Amino acid sequence: MTASLNPYLADNFAPVQTESTADQLSVLGEIPLELNGMFVRNGPNPQFPPIGAYHWFDGDGMLHGVRIQDGKASYRNRYIRTQGFEQERQAGRALFGGLLQPLQGGFKNVANTAIVWHRERLLALWEGGEPHAIAVPSLDTLGVHSFGGKLTSPVTAHPKIDPVTKEMMFFGYSLAQSPHVKYSVVSRDGKLLRTVPIELPVGVMMHDFAITEHYTIFMDLPLTFRRERLQRGEPAFAFERDRPSRFGILPRHGDNQSIRWFEASSCYVFHTLNAYEAGDSIVLIACRMDSTSVLGASAGTHEGDNRQIGSDVPLLYRWQFNLKTGTVQEKALDDRPCEFPRINEQYLGRQTDYGYAGSSAPSAMPKFDGLLKFNLERHSVQVHSFGRGRYGGEGVFVPRPGATIEDDGWLMTFVHDEMQDTSELVIINTSAMTDEASVRILLPNRVPYGFHGTWVSFG
Ligand SMILES: [Fe+2]
Repeated sequence: MTASLNPYLADNFAPVQTESTADQLSVLGEIPLELNGMFVRNGPNPQFPPIGAYHWFDGDGMLHGVRIQDGKASYRNRYIRTQGFEQERQAGRALFGGLLQPLQGGFKNVANTAIVWHRERLLALWEGGEPHAIAVPSLDTLGVHSFGGKLTSPVTAHPKIDPVTKEMMFFGYSLAQSPHVKYSVVSRDGKLLRTVPIELPVGVMMHDFAITEHYTIFMDLPLTFRRERLQRGEPAFAFERDRPSRFGILPRHGDNQSIRWFEASSCYVFHTLNAYEAGDSIVLIACRMDSTSVLGASAGTHEGDNRQIGSDVPLLYRWQFNLKTGTVQEKALDDRPCEFPRINEQYLGRQTDYGYAGSSAPSAMPKFDGLLKFNLERHSVQVHSFGRGRYGGEGVFVPRPGATIEDDGWLMTFVHDEMQDTSELVIINTSAMTDEASVRILLPNRVPYGFHGTWVSFG
């Protein structure tokens, strides 16, 4: 498929062809001397022209990293060398199909979605398979990480690390087989402690979840997978508007017997911002859409009825689940379309005053024209705009070393200037949150729009 036919292979969604390394990058502004670490972002970067229909989720994972130390910055980008990547490299062409047009040989684990730092280990994640361990700061692929052979499920791209206990919670989902979800807890020293099945009525695409200090929250949302649709020549996924959203809350070390399900209005959520305990209630904040057409799903339709009645616009939203009375309250928190929500993760699972998200640009493509800082207490919003013709990605919150105030730190994201066709790492002071970036680190090559990143602190 050529770029002119597929917008995810064109403009700044197009892959870069080389792996490069560059030291002594040019910097506008001054890099704070207390920053010592590496910003790493994952995203799809197909090594070869795809076979058949290409979806943005299909590309081989590539990491772009900016190492910052002593007020200086260096850059490197590296493919994640998965088994499928190496097979295709040897063949000199694509061998695997994508999510829209699967081939007999199955899918390749592209490791392209996110990156997590736990117990001095960097893992590249893709929700359909095993994580890959990555060396820092070289970004070399060390290999599949199976938690000493104990892993029995795929691993979500969005594990949650408790900032106090340092436990890591994750799940893996299966579309076609029961149990549809397996939930795991990893100890602070990196041992997989337990994996328990969570039962769902039907397989669903489950991209994220949430934790509080004592609970874990699963989202059984009506983006269902049914094999029989394939036999009718329809996409396997459909958004079933008639099904409610179900939120399952269980104690962190609980299981399917201790999960309690709450029903709320039909919706889809890619990403949660945070969750916390408030008296008898659990509060969840996430980016909610009325429906979704991801992976060709017939968005917002009733089974057998093709009228589109929903929309894919994500808004910041709050649910409150009362564990005593069983009631659910839900409301939108703001009317600005936004996605890729993040917080200061030193407060994950606890009530925070602030949340951050990308401001969705008025574009047919998933691009952000700025970053939003939500004051969740005062219901106010501050905006950082990337500027005319400039679009960026997820804003990763980096706390100032030694900070005692939640919003004392920076947001970091890659920004692309579409007129100049250049990329930068932009660092925004979150206490001020103005349109002016504190620091702009100019990169030697274009960084395609991608998915999730993290900050690895070496300090
Ligand atoms: Fe994600």
